[in-house]
Amino acid sequence: MIKLGIIGTSWITAMFLDAAVQTKAYELTTVYSRSQEKGQKFLSSLAFNTENVDVVTTLSDLYQNVDAVYIASPNALHFEQAKVAIQSGVHAIVEKPLFSNPAEFKQIENLLATHPDVLLFEAARHVHQPNFKLIQSIVKKMPKLQGATLVYQKYSSRYDAYLAGEEPNVLTKKYSAGALYDLGVYPIYAALAIYGAPNAVQYLPTLLRNGVDGNGVANLFYSGFNVTVIFGKTSNSYLSSEFYGLKDTISVSNIAELESVIYHDSAGQVNSVGAKPENNPMVREAQDFANIINDPIENHAEYNQWLQLAKQVNQTLFDLRQSAEIEFPADIKE
Ligand SMILES: NC(=O)c1ccc[n+]([C@@H]2O[C@H](COP(=O)([O-])OP(=O)(O)OC[C@H]3O[C@@H](n4cnc5c(N)ncnc54)[C@H](OP(=O)(O)O)[C@@H]3O)[C@@H](O)[C@H]2O)c1
Repeated sequence: MIKLGIIGTSWITAMFLDAAVQTKAYELTTVYSRSQEKGQKFLSSLAFNTENVDVVTTLSDLYQNVDAVYIASPNALHFEQAKVAIQSGVHAIVEKPLFSNPAEFKQIENLLATHPDVLLFEAARHVHQPNFKLIQSIVKKMPKLQGATLVYQKYSSRYDAYLAGEEPNVLTKKYSAGALYDLGVYPIYAALAIYGAPNAVQYLPTLLRNGVDGNGVANLFYSGFNVTVIFGKTSNSYLSSEFYGLKDTISVSNIAELESVIYHDSAGQVNSVGAKPENNPMVREAQDFANIINDPIENHAEYNQWLQLAKQVNQTLFDLRQSAEIEFPADIKE
């Protein structure tokens, strides 16, 4: 069993823990919270036996007794928390987006080189789903690639608070957040997992009053085709995402949730090809990470592939931000 610690006590951590328990590969041993009381409250909300789980309020206590940590804190905190994990010999499973910029990624890469037994994962749950792998395999067989239009636009539960004058974590540059880093990351991950790193990028955001991006359109330029990515946190979109061949098209209900995948073949036939997703969309990633942690030598190639993809996504998000002149405090901290 992988002894697991967690950082972050919001709903996404509860969902990851449910997935981790389902895999039977992890055992929760330690909850980190800034507040003992909040950590205990979170613990008592969990639906499995937590009798032997400790609540701690310092990272050094957290990293003392775990093999791996799941980090689901505001984005700008990922770097420091993952850094200390790696220095402590603890594998880090970090929520998307992994880090704020390529400078942070490079520092972590250097650190990993001096801790070769420690593994780093970005929890980009959708690319681990069977339906995502299906899309990848159909695109691979398309006679000609003509790009994609990818959409992920969802009204944020925190936007009401923003409109009321607050500055929630997910809508502030202070925490390396905003539409691109919070939701755009899903379609951008999908594009890069399928087509590789783009040759050039451009981002046209709509900025909110505090300078963070509330929604926007990104273009990823490849040789011979483009990928258009539409995302946002200030309204809902019900558009599907599409991947284009010559006469064939894949249509996906939602590029992050992947509930349905429809293949329109060259003859115009409509085929529903996707499988029904599991109830918890994090089970597959939790299982993939456990497989690698339990046998890193056997799964070395797959691990490297995920890490390289994470690096390309990190660079692409940064390049997109630069094209729109959006700077995060994390870019200038040294
Ligand atoms: N994969 C997915 O589907 C998915 C979904 C949602 C979010 N996420 C990712 O998960 C991460 C967390 O997102 P979230 O919306 O849950 O964030 P959040 O609610 O703002 O914060 C998550 C946790 O971090 C701690 N925290 C909050 N503010 C903090 C601060 N100022 N300083 C230090 N710690 C703080 C809190 O735990 P304590 O108070 O207990 O310390 C809180 O429970 C993000 O990276 C996000 O992108 C992923």
